[in-house]
Amino acid sequence: MKEKLLAIKEKAINTINSAASNEELEEIRVGILGRKGELTGILRSLATLSAEEKTEIGKLSNAIKDEISAAIEQKVNALDEAEINGRLADEWIDVTLDGTFNDETAGSGRIHPISQIQYEIEDIFTSMGFEILDGPEAETEYYNFEALNIPKHHPARDMQDTFWTEDGNLLRTHTSAIQVRGMEKAEPPFRVIGPGRVFRYEATDASHENTFYQVEGMMIDKDISVSNLIYFMKVLLREIFKREVKIRLRPGYFPFVEPGFELDINCLICGGKGCSVCKQTGWVELLPCGLVHPNVLKYGGIDPEKWSGFAFGLGLNRLIMMRYGITDIRHFQSGDIRFLKQF
Ligand code: PHE
Repeated sequence: MKEKLLAIKEKAINTINSAASNEELEEIRVGILGRKGELTGILRSLATLSAEEKTEIGKLSNAIKDEISAAIEQKVNALDEAEINGRLADEWIDVTLDGTFNDETAGSGRIHPISQIQYEIEDIFTSMGFEILDGPEAETEYYNFEALNIPKHHPARDMQDTFWTEDGNLLRTHTSAIQVRGMEKAEPPFRVIGPGRVFRYEATDASHENTFYQVEGMMIDKDISVSNLIYFMKVLLREIFKREVKIRLRPGYFPFVEPGFELDINCLICGGKGCSVCKQTGWVELLPCGLVHPNVLKYGGIDPEKWSGFAFGLGLNRLIMMRYGITDIRHFQSGDIRFLKQF
């Protein structure tokens, strides 16, 4: 009986030591110490032994039971420790590092392309003696229309679909409102530009937005003519595009200029061959302009007998679209970081 017990112990210790998981150890424990286990079976058969033997074998088997239990516990601990060490080695992270860098959402900000080109234009014009003016985005009817020679009920108001406020004011439809405020303050001769955001009540598509940006320009002096206008516009385009750009002037109707023009540039996307951006014409309408109408000068408190001037309204969105080959104006307002981070 004693030998049998010692044999069970030896076998048990060996299998415990070579066990590879807690599940395996549990199976071993049940197989030896469980209700139907080997050792339990032996203890049950003690009944047939003499009292002396009972005491001796009883003691031995209890000792063996304790030894096996202890061996199992030790092995469980060893396996747990090995697992933890393994995970520490495999899965360690440096908590002092920055979070995962996601280029879509992180990174430093940058200046919006509209602002970039606005600053460039401001530099070009200030270098030619122009002053920069600002004006409100919510305007009165007077500054947006009336003082620009567009009286109430004039059909020209329909050219600019307008967001009206309930109290009869509006979101300015063009930066021309800035010229009026400028004329009221400045003494001629003067040269000003007025960059800003403008709004049109319009359905959006690839070339129309309800919100876009313009730079208004105005020069008032003695004997200003169309050739002064063309000169400044050519300088502007050459500086912006870093090369000579072919232009053409077409008559254009704006009540605040006379004569009025649409200045087109040769399409820089297709080189004038015709594409979707220039609507297959090879030309892109970029710069409405003209000589300031005498009525507008009068509204601005300037004597049209003494002074004359030119004005233009440059669309910034379209200008950038030309420069970079952007084919959908809606990108500018989309807030899409994939678009913005290219500039
Ligand atoms: N304000 C006009 C527009 O937005 C553009 C323009 C400005 C035309 C100045 C002529 C002179 O449509």
